[in-house]
Amino acid sequence: MDWDQWTELAWQSRGRAHAPYSGFQVGAVVVGTGGEVFAGCNVENLSYGLTICAERVAVGSAVAAGVTEIIAAVVVAETEQPVSPCGACRQVLAEFGDPELLLVGRHGSERFRLSELLPRATTGILDRS
Ligand code: THU
Repeated sequence: MDWDQWTELAWQSRGRAHAPYSGFQVGAVVVGTGGEVFAGCNVENLSYGLTICAERVAVGSAVAAGVTEIIAAVVVAETEQPVSPCGACRQVLAEFGDPELLLVGRHGSERFRLSELLPRATTGILDRS
């Protein structure tokens, strides 16, 4: 599988988003070291603070399936500019590596390493480097 297929899966997952409060649907895919692919969509709640972003849903599925390192992630939304993971999702992704990210909006996409968007995510914590 490649970026195009991962992106297609992320769009499919976005279609299953539960986002009745914001109306903002997001899809995500994360990829493990062996090429395993896991999709997620945002899951909102009447108690707004319980909302889970698409990225964290995908990470949870990956980890539950045995993935320990994430090498790539795609996030898609119908935004003017490519959608960007929130700070919490950046930190959660950083727990599992420094993946290449493809951020996709209505008019195109941008590529980043996670560490460009969240430098020093683990430095110093529990004496990590
Ligand atoms: N959201 C995501 O799922 N991922 C992002 O990267 C940005 C925000 C969701 C959370 C909430 O359900 C809605 O988008 C509006 O913030």
